[in-house]
Amino acid sequence: MSARVEALLARLSWEQKLAQMQIVWRRDLGEATALARRGIGALFWPASARETNQLQRAAVESGGVPLLIALDVVHGQRTIFPTPLAQAASFDRAVAAADARVSAREARSGGVNWTYSPMVDVTRDPRWGRVVEGFGEDALLTSTLGAVKARAYRAEGVAACLKHFAAYGAAEAGRDYNTADVSRRRLRDVYLEPFRAGAHAGADTVMAAFTSVNGRPMHANAPLLTGVLKGEWGFEGLVVGDAEGVAQLVAHGVAETEKDAIRQAIEAGVDIVMGGAELVDARGAALLAPGEVDADRVDDAVRRILSLKERLGLLDDPFVRAEAEILAPTEESLAAARSAAERCIVLLRNEGALPLAQRGRVLVTGPYARSLDHLGAWVQHFAAPATSTLADALAAELPEVDWVEAAGSGFLSGSDEDIAEAVSRAADADLVIVAAGEPSRLSGEAASRADVALPAAQTRLIHVLADAGARVVVVLHTGRPLVVEDWIERVDAVLCTWHLGTQAAPAIAGALSGRVNPGGRLPMTFPRAVGQIPIHHDHERTGRPARTGGELLDPAAVDDETILGPNNTDDHYTSKFLDLPLGPRFAFGHGLSYTTFALDDLEVVRDDGGWLVSVRVRNTGVHDGDDVVLLFASDECASVAQPVRRLRGFERVAVPSGGAARVAFRLEASDLGFWTDDERFVIEPGGFELAVEDGMSAVRTRIVLEEAS
Ligand code: BGC
Repeated sequence: MSARVEALLARLSWEQKLAQMQIVWRRDLGEATALARRGIGALFWPASARETNQLQRAAVESGGVPLLIALDVVHGQRTIFPTPLAQAASFDRAVAAADARVSAREARSGGVNWTYSPMVDVTRDPRWGRVVEGFGEDALLTSTLGAVKARAYRAEGVAACLKHFAAYGAAEAGRDYNTADVSRRRLRDVYLEPFRAGAHAGADTVMAAFTSVNGRPMHANAPLLTGVLKGEWGFEGLVVGDAEGVAQLVAHGVAETEKDAIRQAIEAGVDIVMGGAELVDARGAALLAPGEVDADRVDDAVRRILSLKERLGLLDDPFVRAEAEILAPTEESLAAARSAAERCIVLLRNEGALPLAQRGRVLVTGPYARSLDHLGAWVQHFAAPATSTLADALAAELPEVDWVEAAGSGFLSGSDEDIAEAVSRAADADLVIVAAGEPSRLSGEAASRADVALPAAQTRLIHVLADAGARVVVVLHTGRPLVVEDWIERVDAVLCTWHLGTQAAPAIAGALSGRVNPGGRLPMTFPRAVGQIPIHHDHERTGRPARTGGELLDPAAVDDETILGPNNTDDHYTSKFLDLPLGPRFAFGHGLSYTTFALDDLEVVRDDGGWLVSVRVRNTGVHDGDDVVLLFASDECASVAQPVRRLRGFERVAVPSGGAARVAFRLEASDLGFWTDDERFVIEPGGFELAVEDGMSAVRTRIVLEEAS
């Protein structure tokens, strides 16, 4: 703790300390200025750098401490990058870093010094709308990209916020804000890991989750906030409550009054309360008297707040140069957003329909053909809109194609006339592009869906076109994995484009034309049915593992006599669904390319207590392209049932047609360890299978860890 912070703390009255511990949002600048004069510690971003400066001036001139100015800068401020889930699909650290760098610069120029990002909730349930805000189902991928973003924000002078601590992604049934009940070991191995990695990477703040975990709402969860985060991990930054999350302790039924909720939250480890009751009112009266809340805890919270302000340089100079505020994307930021968008696209299926031919007649239809809804969830009103529609971007990308258009259907509703028009225009087209998807508003906060299918009007459009014999390519814009079972085999190609931001349309057009070879891979499993959820690649081993899937959906395979006859004991009593084929529709890591890759020459070398694992990647096709190479480890036998495999490394590599590259991973003994339910991290000796895969081929070997540590 610096002497300067100690001296400042000593000068603050009880009321001034409590005021430091609150953040609120006020649209009205006059109200916000009054709060700044009264010594509030933090505010949400006012409309501009000029207004931010006005607030900082009000804080300083009234003898107070400069403000933390916060905002959700989740995947862009002015220039919007792909959503975080889309970024995860790039499997590219540079994509996450570029977003954080550009958005932090834009936000900082307006006076924002704190972003509520990155969200590092591991998400295994696509019903939950907030999956779009995170990096998907894998703890390593989430940890890596979260840490990259935290570092990049920090380098640009903006404090990061890891959210939402913890296990918010485990909300039951994917219903937002719902309870999470997670074993201690899964909490440690999966849900806490990205927070540990992010805190280690220098994230300054952590946001408490709305959920209760194992019965204890996170805003009053002392064992996790104080015990694990601040104690065990030595996190020196601050914990902010989520919007009115502290007040919600009353709704959770663990506090009788909001005042009691605030006391509990502070004592559990929350340092800044977001919204809710005023900690210090307009007359200067404190909600809690010194005896009503642990005064040492209050001092600790304020120390953390002041230390962050000091580190951000706010105690020296809280002002920004208003004339240098970045108000619109620049050529450079657009180029960065475009290259990021190009790297996030996943080719899910291709029966030879893509890349598009340079000539011929192509019909573009569906709600995304003429929509600008490309930004995705969590952008602010001042975000730069998408620069073009897909229809326009395609016309620019392939000028010699004879482009034809038809509305086809809306996002949620359609008409017989629109469908009939699309079918008639499809009749003399060589190909039909259905620009389909889930609009941005259907994912994000409080946007859980019980049925994660494409809206029925769009499915109908696809079916009618397929019935009419059209060759159909679906461009799937989405904030979450969707169940596509009903139509996927009827179409010739599917390109998953998520919500790609300001530069979405030219990036998608580039992937359709082949100028860009899609290199993204799925960061979340696409299930076959909602009934499979939660579903993820690293599920734990079970007894009676299934070798075959169920067949009840296929009348050719099952008739009344078979189902009523004696059970086949070999295949019947296994862990599967009777009415689904085995496994998901598209697994974690799935993604095709316009070229083909082959992995070989796997080499494992013992190195300083760990292993160096390397593999050769050959591009065996006719296009240059990027491959994503994944390293998985499977524990052959352990004292606790382990996941069937765990991702232990990933690399994205560009390989020219006919060329080869070597990809290497470093594996430590600790990468093979795991948490037990009595919260011990153990590394057990024994055999492990290593698999290096890229979705097209896999190479395997076995290593043995000799000694327990
Ligand atoms: C969300 C947070 C967000 C906060 C402030 C809450 O409703 O859960 O993720 O940072 O609002 O906008």
